[in-house]
Amino acid sequence: MKAIQVGLIGFGTVGSGVVKVLRQNADVIEKRVGRPVVLARIADLDVTTDRGVQVPAGTLTTKVGDILDDPAIDIVVELIGGHEPAKRFILQAIERKKSVVTANKALLADHGEEIFEAAFKSTVDVGFEASVGGGIPIIRSLTEGLAGNRVASIMGIMNGTSNYILTRMTNEHRDFAEILQEAKREGYAEADPSLDVDGIDAAHKLAIMVNLAYGTPVRMAEIFTEGISGLSTVDMEFAKELGLTIKLLGIAKLRDQSIEARVHPTLVPAGSPIAQVGGVYNAIHLIGDAVGDVVLYGKGAGSLPTASAVVGDIIDLARNRISGVACRVPPTSFQWEHRQLIPIRPMATIESMYYLRCMVKDQPNVLSKISGILGGHGISISSVLQKGRKAGQTVPLVILTHRSLEAAIQTALREINALPLVSEPTTLLRMEELE
Ligand code: HSE
Repeated sequence: MKAIQVGLIGFGTVGSGVVKVLRQNADVIEKRVGRPVVLARIADLDVTTDRGVQVPAGTLTTKVGDILDDPAIDIVVELIGGHEPAKRFILQAIERKKSVVTANKALLADHGEEIFEAAFKSTVDVGFEASVGGGIPIIRSLTEGLAGNRVASIMGIMNGTSNYILTRMTNEHRDFAEILQEAKREGYAEADPSLDVDGIDAAHKLAIMVNLAYGTPVRMAEIFTEGISGLSTVDMEFAKELGLTIKLLGIAKLRDQSIEARVHPTLVPAGSPIAQVGGVYNAIHLIGDAVGDVVLYGKGAGSLPTASAVVGDIIDLARNRISGVACRVPPTSFQWEHRQLIPIRPMATIESMYYLRCMVKDQPNVLSKISGILGGHGISISSVLQKGRKAGQTVPLVILTHRSLEAAIQTALREINALPLVSEPTTLLRMEELE
């Protein structure tokens, strides 16, 4: 019985997790595949660092050609991340009819079309379960389990690092900068955390999910993206008082033949399932027309959870190779010829509920001036909170609105900020009901 031969490119945190899972679960994997799955070669520029896992002599190589040029390798696993040379290696593997597994969300979000087109043309499978939500099987849910649904919305916590920081800011009432420094020391945040805390990583993942859910490519520039670095503990305290919690959400909704796709800090009801998701966990809330609400929750990062998703893909693609099929499940979920360009709505046209924290002089008539501006733009107020009483001094005035148009709130905000009684730029946060 010929074993399935796997070549791994990238022996970092996830790569070593894959080695561990393939080894410790070799027996069940063989029973599920019907043949042994063997890690034949591992390519990495650094083959001397101890990765905490034993590999048989002769497995490690610094030459990626030892994997890509070897006709015996069935499945190539790309775990180096970034655009190049990852893209080149994946395209070469596809050209050589090797099945491909990748966890590379940045590459798929930015160059997915090129990779998917190559896969379709060569009838080669590409698995990328690990690219979104770490160990959560969200990709397979979209392409298979929920494939009978029209997806109304996808909403969720898609970045563990920023969720970890927000959870600690909320619980410990401490500033972003302070928690970030600690998270870096503890290994929860990268030395350069910008992809995570600026919302870009979540936007990459949202782009991949929108592509699969709606059968349309999405350009990253079309996704409104705002991170968590500007958040203040003052707003977290007010949120708590109002029965709300701030989470960095990726949000996609189908509305009138177009799609809303955005990533930003969002106020959600403190009692909602998403609000309970703490630390590095991810949770994705989908609404399908047939299934209704589905929430997938689990570890969104880490060596073994991400390796779980990679090995799931290896098993899937191994089964396909043994059965002599490929692209049975199209990598884009929709068949290539049935994909279409669905417009992504400009941010100005979305509707949301809003939280405004105006810093105002504590004097009569302030609220009527601000509410007058909001009312003039068709924005209806749902509640107002003012704390403290310091006549003549600056105090925060928090206003929650009913569902309003983004363009209207932005215009109103400019007018509010121009009022002489407003002492600093107003904080704006968007709010979701998560019904
Ligand atoms: N950096 C990501 C996160 C993990 O913090 O969620 C990998 O997708």
